Amino acid sequence: MNRREFLQGLAALVAAQSTSGYLWAEAPPPWTLGFEGVEEDLPPRAMRVRGEFPAQCRGSLYRNGPALYARGLQRYQHWFDPDGMVQAFRIAAGSVEHQGRFVRTHRFKQEEKAGRFLHGGAGTNFEDALPVRNNESTNVANINVQPLNGELLAMWEAGSAYRIDPDSLETLGTLEFDDSLRGVPFSAHPHFDERGELWNIGSVLFAHQPTLVLYHLGADGRLQKSAAVPMDFPGYMHDFVLTPRYLIALNSSAVLGAGDNFVDRLHWEPERPSQLLVFDRNDFSLRATIEVPATFVFHFGNGWEEGDNIHFTACAYRDMDIVSVGMFRLAQQQPGPYHDASALVHYTLSLSPGSAETTSLGIDMEFPGYDTRRPFSAQMLSGAAGQGEADSRLASAVVRVDPRTGDSERFDYGEGVVVEEPLFVPGPDEGYLLHSFLDYRQGRSGIAALKAGRLADGPVASADMERVLPLGFHGCFLPA
Ligand SMILES: [Fe+2]
Repeated sequence: MNRREFLQGLAALVAAQSTSGYLWAEAPPPWTLGFEGVEEDLPPRAMRVRGEFPAQCRGSLYRNGPALYARGLQRYQHWFDPDGMVQAFRIAAGSVEHQGRFVRTHRFKQEEKAGRFLHGGAGTNFEDALPVRNNESTNVANINVQPLNGELLAMWEAGSAYRIDPDSLETLGTLEFDDSLRGVPFSAHPHFDERGELWNIGSVLFAHQPTLVLYHLGADGRLQKSAAVPMDFPGYMHDFVLTPRYLIALNSSAVLGAGDNFVDRLHWEPERPSQLLVFDRNDFSLRATIEVPATFVFHFGNGWEEGDNIHFTACAYRDMDIVSVGMFRLAQQQPGPYHDASALVHYTLSLSPGSAETTSLGIDMEFPGYDTRRPFSAQMLSGAAGQGEADSRLASAVVRVDPRTGDSERFDYGEGVVVEEPLFVPGPDEGYLLHSFLDYRQGRSGIAALKAGRLADGPVASADMERVLPLGFHGCFLPA
């Protein structure tokens, strides 16, 4: 072998290794199996069932998350980036079937045809990427899937929602309102009120003016009203809180500035207070702007009101390292350290004068869930927790916590299992929690159901299969 052949061989080796994102000599840490991704749709497949899923849990558990990590030698470098796949776990008496299908976004179809990624991701740059013309050219619809008017919506946070057929998982098109809202961000965490009507936000720069768009949709999916409200600064926003009278958004201290891609443009500004923006649900008027110490939040628990006070919980981070460090390392299948665990905090707001009190509930938790039939009551929250000190930092426990006292109960699968967002399913006693999981030691993915009131007993039923599914973000359960 001459020097040139040697260098060509080395270049090929580096290119091959970099498609897995992992450039070190050792094997990737085992928990990063869930970040390898899949290349094709996953056709319906029967799972191995253990125990018996309660009748109330029969139906479909839908999940969405980043799934297509690579095309050819190109590979995304950040967990925000890969194209979304909607997965369905169909639970029947004695059987569970799994299916996964990529959301056919405008971008997915173009890039499938081209055989390569044409655009960079939220945290990845590719050489020779095409310029971004609008939000839809980069929308990967990979964060959440929720029902609306007999269909599912696959949602991202910087573009339109995609409509999905709940049976075939086929992509039906984008959710459209009127021309003024075409392509305007429709965030990934809509909330439903007591009447089943949908409320949402979208954060966008209109001609360099940071703007928050507010949406109110009827249960039939039609737009009831919207508003575009200028903001003081472009802080990162992901979720919000709905109460009987108010919609509350957090303008966080992770602020969009200059940079090479979306993640690079986010700068943590610890000296800049975050803002709680309190809007009146009736007319979307801004009732109060309440400053709080710099915080970073992806997810809020449900909100409720007591007299003139507004209550809610937040899974709060000290900074934005989870985005600027952790999600790069996980997607690149690198060892940690990744980031700090999020702490559950109880907020009490008063509007006259505007003030916020916070109480730490002493529990690390993410992916808060609750009984969506009574969205505005102080009720038990569920979540994924644990492993804050372990190398993986990925949750291994299902937890349930009282947001008023911090009293909690949990079931911890221990190291080797990654627990994804638990969803509340109504049932006898205190109902059930249903969640998907990855058992990275066994190389198996699956779902499990636990009695919400008896978490420590562990799963009453589970189903798994001999393959690893990509770890995702959010979903919903629709009873049969
Ligand atoms: Fe989220």
